[in-house]
Amino acid sequence: MKRVLSVFGTRPEAIKMCPLVLELERRAGLESLVCVTAQHREMLDGVLKTFGVTPDFDLNIMSEGQTLSDITAKVLTGLGPVLDAAKPDLVLVHGDTGTTFSAALSAFYHHLPVGHVEAGLRTWDRWSPYPEELNRCLVGRLAELHFAPTARNRENLEREAVEGTIFVTGNTVIDAMAYTVNDRPFGCAALNGVDFQNRRVIAMTCHRRENYGEPMENIFTAVRELALAFPGVTVVYPVHLSPVVQRAARSHLEGLPNVLLTEPLDAMDMHRLMDRSYLVMTDSGGLQEEAPALGKPVLVLRRETERPEAVAAGTVKLAGTGRAEILRLASELLTDPAEYEKMARAVNPYGDGQACRRIADAIEWHFGLRTDPPAPFTV
Ligand code: UD1
Ligand code: UDP
Repeated sequence: MKRVLSVFGTRPEAIKMCPLVLELERRAGLESLVCVTAQHREMLDGVLKTFGVTPDFDLNIMSEGQTLSDITAKVLTGLGPVLDAAKPDLVLVHGDTGTTFSAALSAFYHHLPVGHVEAGLRTWDRWSPYPEELNRCLVGRLAELHFAPTARNRENLEREAVEGTIFVTGNTVIDAMAYTVNDRPFGCAALNGVDFQNRRVIAMTCHRRENYGEPMENIFTAVRELALAFPGVTVVYPVHLSPVVQRAARSHLEGLPNVLLTEPLDAMDMHRLMDRSYLVMTDSGGLQEEAPALGKPVLVLRRETERPEAVAAGTVKLAGTGRAEILRLASELLTDPAEYEKMARAVNPYGDGQACRRIADAIEWHFGLRTDPPAPFTV
């Protein structure tokens, strides 16, 4: 029996790792263990509940206004005793957070192999997204098994000549959506009061560190002006719990009749919200993968993206962080049906719902429990 320890700590990591944990649990030759760092607390716990995953270890590191160094140091020291106790044959990490980098480094210090889920996403700008771009590059260096969602992600890893084996698997977020997207009422009472039949709803999120300060002020000013210009549109914005984001969002957007600020939503509600919305505006990575699968146009509130596949397919546009351009692009989608129709097509460049199966197959193959590696995901 080979022991696989999955380590994650934030909401997006959990949404993308929980379906994989459930898949690993189904494999007879593997023992699946989970350690959460709880870099996020409430936002993480909501996802664990949605998927029914109970961690074996919980480092419980979150503190209000934590710095990147706090996160890195606490995960590095906290994970050591867990690795000693669990004695895994493989440590899985996901994506690009502080948890991801620090857990991979800790595994390396314990001479343990690392598997990197969602490997190979790059903007090639170390400052954006900050610090995620460099986190994922560093994990690429530490990992021996690289689970790249797309062929383009594999090319990025080849360009860096990473060591080990690369598998193209699709993104597990598409697998997660099989659990979450349905027609049932929302868990969040405020959302059940929104008239999705008669109003056009914009689902929005914004929280990234490189947007703190002026870019976030510009984004919120543009959304405010949009809401005032289009009274028949409702903006729904679940606000991240970061105090920086809470302050900025409330000062610009509170009190407008057609802007609904909510607590962070659980994954089921978030995915249902996007499914019932007209348009998505976001600086999130995950939403850029989910909305195209639901046929919803996306305006990305960033200057770059590590997810160019849906931009190439024409369903995602980079709006940047300037007030005027965000307002122009959103207004265009609300007033020009032809432009809207061009973007509102369901495309799935990020996965086919089989990513977890491919990753589990690849792990079994790596351990000699299977003769062939999985066939790569292709669009
Ligand atoms: C982190 C990740 C980012 C990821 C994002 C997902 C890093 C460097 N960044 O950024 O890659 O996109 O999570 O959301 O790892 N808070 C709570 N409760 C929660 C979660 C957060 O109160 O459940 C508050 C705390 O005050 C915390 C703050 O939010 O200090 C910021 O959280 P942190 O994980 O440091 O940064 P994120 O911006 O969430
Ligand atoms: N999400 C959620 N509730 C919210 C906002 C986002 O469940 O209130 C989900 C979203 O559907 C996606 C993930 O969280 O799966 C994205 O998280 P985030 O934007 O925090 O991080 P990123 O994807 O940029 O790393």
